[in-house]
Amino acid sequence: MGSLDGRVVLITGAGRGIGREEALLFAAEGAKVVVNDPGVAIDGTGGDGGVADAVVKEIVARGGQAVANTDSVADWRGAQRMVDTAVQAFGDLHVVVNNATIERNRAMVNLSEEDFDDVVAVKLKGTFAVTRWAARHWRARFEAGDRIDRAVINTSSGSGLLNPLPTQASYAAGNAGVAAMTTVGALELGRYGVRVNCISPSMARTRLTLEVPGMSAEPSPGRFDPLHPSTSAPIAAYLATSTCPLTGQVLSVRGGSVAVNHGWSRGATIDKDGLWTVAELAEQVPGLPMSDPFDKLADALGRALGPAGQSEIQEMINTLLDHGAEEPADSWK
Ligand SMILES: NC(=O)c1ccc[n+]([C@@H]2O[C@H](COP(=O)([O-])OP(=O)(O)OC[C@H]3O[C@@H](n4cnc5c(N)ncnc54)[C@H](O)[C@@H]3O)[C@@H](O)[C@H]2O)c1
Repeated sequence: MGSLDGRVVLITGAGRGIGREEALLFAAEGAKVVVNDPGVAIDGTGGDGGVADAVVKEIVARGGQAVANTDSVADWRGAQRMVDTAVQAFGDLHVVVNNATIERNRAMVNLSEEDFDDVVAVKLKGTFAVTRWAARHWRARFEAGDRIDRAVINTSSGSGLLNPLPTQASYAAGNAGVAAMTTVGALELGRYGVRVNCISPSMARTRLTLEVPGMSAEPSPGRFDPLHPSTSAPIAAYLATSTCPLTGQVLSVRGGSVAVNHGWSRGATIDKDGLWTVAELAEQVPGLPMSDPFDKLADALGRALGPAGQSEIQEMINTLLDHGAEEPADSWK
């Protein structure tokens, strides 16, 4: 039995690197996977439909279930089609992993408007777009009576949170925005049974990092490779399990080290000289000190309104959300 048996999961940018490793592990853990990837170059240009297909073939060859989708997360209707693909192929959608990214690293003085917009469109708006369409499906299912755990796992980066890098103004800003949106998502979507968390990988050997000094070194044979792009996959899988209690958290991952961030700072860490299993993470992660986004909101509001418990905070959130709940004028949008 796998930790994700029966879960339907959409992973964006799952054709290469970290997303590919997540797709392979999630499928091995029993999930039915929509492998999204338009197969673009690092800077977002071009495209190759075979990239997503290759991962689907790999999963199916190992006895798993997967379908491909080649839409861009930056395309509003494309994001909706990804969600539709999951529902049409597998009957529902339980988990979204927002992983896609592009990069255009340039000094701020040389960064064009187009470079900035294109990176933020994939990293930040893409995360919003896919989550938004999934959330509409989940709200409908909740209102129809479903009481199922659903989860969003966003992907941020050390660049943007813990170790900002020069030349990455657009990428770092997008990543910081993704972490901020994680907390808002946790507060808003909790009432539909949706948990929203974020992983923040660091120094995984993919095409994005090959030019970073030391990253292209060959791993020692037979030893745990802390730079392998698979190291964050078990953390994402753990956050996707239906029994995971976490919401509104950002988990930094570097090799076998997993930390729960507190705002922009790294918090307490668990370490392993090897690849974590989902079961080990389920045992150890909940013991790490972390702050509940509802408590944080209650604390912030308490100073203005006096003490409030979680139920009052939830009521207040519901009032706020219902107030803005009218459908957009063009309901397609
Ligand atoms: N590699 C690292 O060390 C590292 C560190 C920190 C954060 N991250 C994050 O991890 C995630 C994966 O990065 P990676 O290193 O595996 O990169 P990667 O380039 O190997 O893979 C990213 C994939 O996203 C796809 N993609 C690009 N634009 C897309 C779009 N518009 N719609 C859908 N898919 C699209 C690409 O085709 C590619 O296959 C990213 O969110 C990145 O910011 C990586």
